[in-house]
Amino acid sequence: MSTEMSMGGTVADGPRGTDPADGLLAALRAAVGPAHLLVDAGARAAYETDWTGRFAGTALAVVRPAGTDEVVAVLRACAAHATPVVPRGGGTGLVGGAVPLGGEVVLSLERLDHVGPVDVAGGSVVVGAGATLAAVDRSAADHGLAVGVDLASRDSATIGGMVATDAGGVRVIAHGPMRRQVLGLEAVLADGSVLRRIPGLAKDGTGYALPELLAGSEGTLAVVTAVHLRLVPRPVATTVLLLGCADVADALGRVAAARRAGTVLAAELVRDRGVRMVHQHAGVPLPLPEPLPPLLLLLELDGDPDRAGRADALAALVGDRPAAIAADVADARRLWAVRERHTEAVQRLGTPTKLDVTVPPAAMAEVLAEVDRIAPDAVVFGHIGDASLHVNLLDAPPGLDEQVLRLVAAHGGSIAAEHGIGVAKAHLVHLTRDDADVAAMRAVKRALDPTGLLNPGKVLPPDPPGS
Ligand code: MLT
Ligand code: ZN
Repeated sequence: MSTEMSMGGTVADGPRGTDPADGLLAALRAAVGPAHLLVDAGARAAYETDWTGRFAGTALAVVRPAGTDEVVAVLRACAAHATPVVPRGGGTGLVGGAVPLGGEVVLSLERLDHVGPVDVAGGSVVVGAGATLAAVDRSAADHGLAVGVDLASRDSATIGGMVATDAGGVRVIAHGPMRRQVLGLEAVLADGSVLRRIPGLAKDGTGYALPELLAGSEGTLAVVTAVHLRLVPRPVATTVLLLGCADVADALGRVAAARRAGTVLAAELVRDRGVRMVHQHAGVPLPLPEPLPPLLLLLELDGDPDRAGRADALAALVGDRPAAIAADVADARRLWAVRERHTEAVQRLGTPTKLDVTVPPAAMAEVLAEVDRIAPDAVVFGHIGDASLHVNLLDAPPGLDEQVLRLVAAHGGSIAAEHGIGVAKAHLVHLTRDDADVAAMRAVKRALDPTGLLNPGKVLPPDPPGS
């Protein structure tokens, strides 16, 4: 199937009854209701780009179904008219995974936003794919629980999108990425059949683990419509501190020391120039006096700061390094802003090429030094707790992104830690997945979506010539 079948997306504006797309639009209108079929360019625009603005395309139309049955009807209509579908969550993606390439139908899950009752005894909740992380977390908080994944875009990022991209964020060190939070899910396959794997039993060895397969598949295998999420105990009190570190080895050593001292909820890395950038472009106060140390490690530790022995443990963790230790919640938020507002500050400087990579901890210092050599203007920060780095390239010459990713691959890392592959890196998957891996992925795609209806051009490298 080619995305050129309904290329351009302006057919919807043409005279009624003369255009082949009219039949599809009529079917979609019947499926979701006229108010939730967007064909007008102005109405579509917000659904046609990623958060950075680096990726944008034109859709034939946007549909906003209200429930699983409507998703089924949309997929059946699109299949009947050989028009591909791009599933879309909260629009916070950074690699163009939920952006049309030209002429697809964008399927927004935003109206599937129900949050079910929290199962307090079992520590879980069933939610619609369109529920935002913040909404689900609020509901969990009422019962002393939390979603195990947290990230800065929590107010817009949706659970379905986070599962589809296997989102990471700042709590991976404590609870793992999004796929580890998935107990079960409901998803619609390309042929309109519905996989209902919601129960999420603690043990279920009956064959292939389909929820795990769909987590991280970026809408290329099925459309996730509901998720049974594991919840984790909500920390009652935490200690947040920012620690100046001399180099990567020092920072990694402090993370290891913090782990030995107790539960580490987050271990994040920023650099002096990034902190100055956030100060200058997002108005966040400098957390330490100048001259800033080259690396700053933000740690969030579980446990009451006033607990006996805590002060001594913190003093030992800090040693003689410069440090800011949050005295209260407002202070903690200020320290977190130094890290979380990097994304926004980078964006104010231009449209970045955002690379999210994981490297083996032992290779991190070397990779960082090499990135500095080949991309001296890159803004680098990340989740040192799970050895992932965000390399933000501004005004990058062509090929620099690939150079950085090749470097990561050469050190045994991953070129897609938590943002997904999307359209940005589909052609580079082979850097860290060998031929057998890619062939297996293609076979799964063909089995579940033989006509290529779902999110074409994303995740998998283009088909080899002659296939
Ligand atoms: C983050 O860690 O802040 C997010 O992954 C977003 C980003 O990389 O800018
Ligand atoms: Zn991140």
